[in-house]
Amino acid sequence: MKPIYFILIILSCAKLNAQNQVINLIPQPVKIEQSVGFYLLTSASTIGYNNPEAQKIAEMLTVKLNVPTGYSLMANQNKTASIQLNLNEVTDPQIGNEGYALNVDNKGVVISANQSAGLYYGMQTLLQLFPKEIESKSVSLAKWNVPAVKIIDYPRFAWRGMMLDVSRHFFSKEDVKTYIDQISRLKYNTFHWHLTDDNGWRIEIKSLPKLTEVGAWRVERFGYFGDRSNPKQGEPATYGGFYSQDDIREIIQFAKERNVTIIPEIDVPGHSMAALASYPELSCTKDKNIKVNPGTEFSEWFGNGKFKMLIDNTLNPSDEKVYDFLDKVFTEVAALFPSPYIHVGGDECYKGYWEKNLACQALMKKQKMTHVEELQGYFMKRLEVILKAKGKKLLGWDEILEGGISPEATVMSWRGIKGGIEAAKMGHEVVMTPTTFAYLDYVQGDKSIESPVYASLRTQQCYGFEPVPEGVDSKYILGGQGNLWTEQIPTLRYAEYMIYPRSWALSEVYWSPKENKNWDNFSKRMENNFERADVAEINYSKAVYDPIIKAGLANGKLILTMASELSDLDIFYTIDGTMPDNFSTKYSKPVQLPEGNITLRVITYRKGKPMGHLIILKRDELEKRAK
Ligand code: ACM
Repeated sequence: MKPIYFILIILSCAKLNAQNQVINLIPQPVKIEQSVGFYLLTSASTIGYNNPEAQKIAEMLTVKLNVPTGYSLMANQNKTASIQLNLNEVTDPQIGNEGYALNVDNKGVVISANQSAGLYYGMQTLLQLFPKEIESKSVSLAKWNVPAVKIIDYPRFAWRGMMLDVSRHFFSKEDVKTYIDQISRLKYNTFHWHLTDDNGWRIEIKSLPKLTEVGAWRVERFGYFGDRSNPKQGEPATYGGFYSQDDIREIIQFAKERNVTIIPEIDVPGHSMAALASYPELSCTKDKNIKVNPGTEFSEWFGNGKFKMLIDNTLNPSDEKVYDFLDKVFTEVAALFPSPYIHVGGDECYKGYWEKNLACQALMKKQKMTHVEELQGYFMKRLEVILKAKGKKLLGWDEILEGGISPEATVMSWRGIKGGIEAAKMGHEVVMTPTTFAYLDYVQGDKSIESPVYASLRTQQCYGFEPVPEGVDSKYILGGQGNLWTEQIPTLRYAEYMIYPRSWALSEVYWSPKENKNWDNFSKRMENNFERADVAEINYSKAVYDPIIKAGLANGKLILTMASELSDLDIFYTIDGTMPDNFSTKYSKPVQLPEGNITLRVITYRKGKPMGHLIILKRDELEKRAK
């Protein structure tokens, strides 16, 4: 991380200049200096670049500007265009590989960077400086002003990721490209692609065709994961899909043009039911009836992270055929993906079937292992040898710490930050993605109105994430990411609802200097971004406007507390059966609920205008929350 020499940040984001133009950037840059005036883009504006790398970004910008303005701007090699994109001839050490400088005055715009990544990010910032109509997919009327400003910007962390699980539900090639394009606009540079799991194998492996002939398909089921019904006798498995290797190459190229590295994840040795439906001989039980799971319950959870898999979904670590299989898979994965890392999963691997297996027991004896956990360490070390031979580094979920790992493995900390701290203290590189701040599949508003998920995570909580834990040397923390598991997310539109605005919040966690973070300031920029997302036709959740309702017990009485993520919302409620409005009781302190069959109704207002959903909670639900 670079030291921040000085930060001149305008923390009142809605700073007005003479033209009343406001600056609302996400993620917040390192340094912004706004001055009076603006640059007006017209059909006579020119776009210039100083070399072929800059040309690619200038051409992207041209398309972005021409669609909503209806202009026919062209990019040309030039040094004095009204919008000029320059790669520095002499490296500017302050901005590094991904940073940029952006200057706007009444004559034009200059973006300069050391590398094309910086120009790409400078272009994203420039687009956010235009009026919201710049997001329109068709010609739109607006005064195409850009406020006069000087920006110096560069990222806090090198790893700024977003994950998409395409196993629980398949997302088409076009969906994946849209997701990558959207995250790149927030200056994320890493797309973690969770390609395999119990519910579908999504990557073509030419030497193992059954992985996609069988493993990519399941019976069609929707709804809450774990509540779904088993495949019926003879029911065809028609729901799913996979990416051909040509599709993957196309997506990798698309991502590269947007400074996004793709990290493929092949989740082993657990979470392998789709692989085992294709090749059942690779498990300890060798169950030939095993099917790609459609979301039926097959595990029992006992608390404290302890669980049991009722169906064997693990590869057999004592079988050499498994390592032949892995060698084939990772040979093709390594050849496809330029990323130095390959994610091998390693999470939630149930070892009960290993424990009972005679060949596993013999292997443990031979290797002088005293605990079955060590078999996972053995498996991961074998896997690391396979990856190393292909020039790749092993990355896994924090369970890879159990059973012993090689010093070169990189750890993705998800079960809180404990695994990340332990790994960093052992000298491993770490990517921080704890459930408590970064799991974007969790509900973001009141669970009475959101589609059900087993846990919740508000935008404000995401924003409060500090990826470098106290006492940890920051050089081991590569950065972090947001994870979108898709058990209950069947469409891209709903994926958008789940990641926005929380991925805006996380983009600032991973990009912006810690000193520049400020929730009230961010929340104003977030609300401005809602309007831009409306024009862009991007879906997002408005749960930040909903009240947060908690219940507790004091002396046997039910006590309700209410709060809001946004500091300028008023909360109004009723307990007398009437519909609340801004003349109802305004919440100011904890409420003791009277006896009886009472229903609480709550709604937020701002300046006399209703903002959030009406939340209705009956006494029995409040009692449940109090437990
Ligand atoms: C995980 O959430 N199982 C990594």
